[in-house]
Amino acid sequence: MLSTRLGQPLLIAFALLVACTAAQAQRTLEFQRYDVPREGAVAVTVRQGAPLEGAFAEVDVATDGALQRAVTAAGFLGDRGVVLNLPGVAPYRQVILVGIGSDPSSARLLEDVGGLVGQAGLVRAAPRIDLLWPDATVADAGLHLAIGAELGQHTFRQYRTPKPDAPVLGRGELVLRLADPDAAGDAWRSSGQALVAGVRFARELVAEPANVIYPESFVERARAAFDGLRKVEIEVLDETEMARLGMNSLLAVGAGSARPPRLLVVRYRGGARDAAPVALVGKGITFDTGGISIKASTDLWRMKYDMAGAAAVTGTVLALARRDAPVNAIAVAALAENMPSGSAGRPGDVIRTMSGQTYEVMSTDAEGRMVLVDAMWFVQTRDKPRVLVDIATLTGSQVTALGDEYGGLFTRDDALAAQLLAAGTASGEEVWRLPLHPSYAKDLESPIADLRNGGGSSRAGAGVGAHFIGAWVQPGVAWAHLDIASMAWRDDAPLPTVPLGASGYGVRLLERWMRDHAEVAAGP
Ligand code: BES
Ligand code: ZN
Ligand code: MN
Repeated sequence: MLSTRLGQPLLIAFALLVACTAAQAQRTLEFQRYDVPREGAVAVTVRQGAPLEGAFAEVDVATDGALQRAVTAAGFLGDRGVVLNLPGVAPYRQVILVGIGSDPSSARLLEDVGGLVGQAGLVRAAPRIDLLWPDATVADAGLHLAIGAELGQHTFRQYRTPKPDAPVLGRGELVLRLADPDAAGDAWRSSGQALVAGVRFARELVAEPANVIYPESFVERARAAFDGLRKVEIEVLDETEMARLGMNSLLAVGAGSARPPRLLVVRYRGGARDAAPVALVGKGITFDTGGISIKASTDLWRMKYDMAGAAAVTGTVLALARRDAPVNAIAVAALAENMPSGSAGRPGDVIRTMSGQTYEVMSTDAEGRMVLVDAMWFVQTRDKPRVLVDIATLTGSQVTALGDEYGGLFTRDDALAAQLLAAGTASGEEVWRLPLHPSYAKDLESPIADLRNGGGSSRAGAGVGAHFIGAWVQPGVAWAHLDIASMAWRDDAPLPTVPLGASGYGVRLLERWMRDHAEVAAGP
């Protein structure tokens, strides 16, 4: 018997144990009419303090009250996110109970339920699990259960050689039993799958090591993902083209690496012809050694995920294109590898960026802002976006400030801040607004150039980085900066829809924000 809270140690330990010895697949999703099976594996939700209702009550009757007795014995109260996984409660092979607390049901809650059931289904090898959700009052309940189940089960096993005689877990079916299965299936196919594909794309690129994902291979993965999608145009700038445009800042970061930098631009035109697009610009450092300002080697492997912002913007636009969303959106991935070598840039170098604005390099380890400002200038000049959101694993300071719970949000636009905060709450990828204090300008003053890229006395490192980036925003463009250094990789404890490792953070947030604030209703 196993009772666990969101990412509690027991279930994780068990899941890890299993994962080490077993090959893992993902269950096939199906949508069927609500009905209570009399055998097999079933999953039901339990509302806190009100266990004897709904599907739970019906399943309990089928067990002659044994389920209720087991629940009482286990002290299971239905707290949100707590899972009780009961084998052998006759006539069932397995009953998975998921506590949903006492808050009203929401999209986010349902995604968590789907994720927890999906994860529970990876631990024991039932050929089929029926998840029972009779309630027709929550809009798109089946859609969100499905999204959660798919995201919760997603793992990256690319390089694990399967042991020939190990059991394959998580193979089989997950059947969602719903009041309106046809509507749920339609919603899943027309929008849920698109979102999941965007998140998976981002997670996979982030999880891949830097000997596999470097600027050119990132571009190839993106081309493959968008292949055949309508209304999408991909532009890729190489070093020659970037040099011609004066993108010396992006080039300076890539200069030390044997892997040449790239600027990837994915334009998706699903909206009105004359509607100004939304631009999403992502930091794509495929490995960050710090360059000549070299980092310490402890935990340096982490810097393979320094391209998570680029993965998030590309994954978001992939989700939009696959859903045929009514919006014009552009993903810009600023791709470079930050390496020390004889050809690398140095501290003290002065860089003239594409905009003409110059800065002095105080640290080659403040490379994220260096690649972003040229990418931002490029897209503002070319595409005249009305809103620009950049997203980056930019600073250790953001990690210290917000830990595992929030991405850092910086903007001078209160309306945009409110929109992004709301999208964070709705999607579960939350952000916390941090200040852009005017005093940060002091930390960026250089005696010989227009700015410097860091090195001041302020301890507000994340804000200073944001301030630097903001100096390349053109007048009239609404701009927000998301520092996701702490969110790109999930350590220690998985979440119901975020397994350990690459989180894909940003795709669900930005996709939600697009839906609620950037998309126009499709015309008649
Ligand atoms: N990629 C790092 C930030 C980072 C740290 C991401 C931890 C993920 C986890 C970034 O390029 C960096 O090195 N930032 C420096 C900036 C400083 C030199 C101004 C930092 O935060 O220390
Ligand atoms: Zn970096
Ligand atoms: Mn760095």
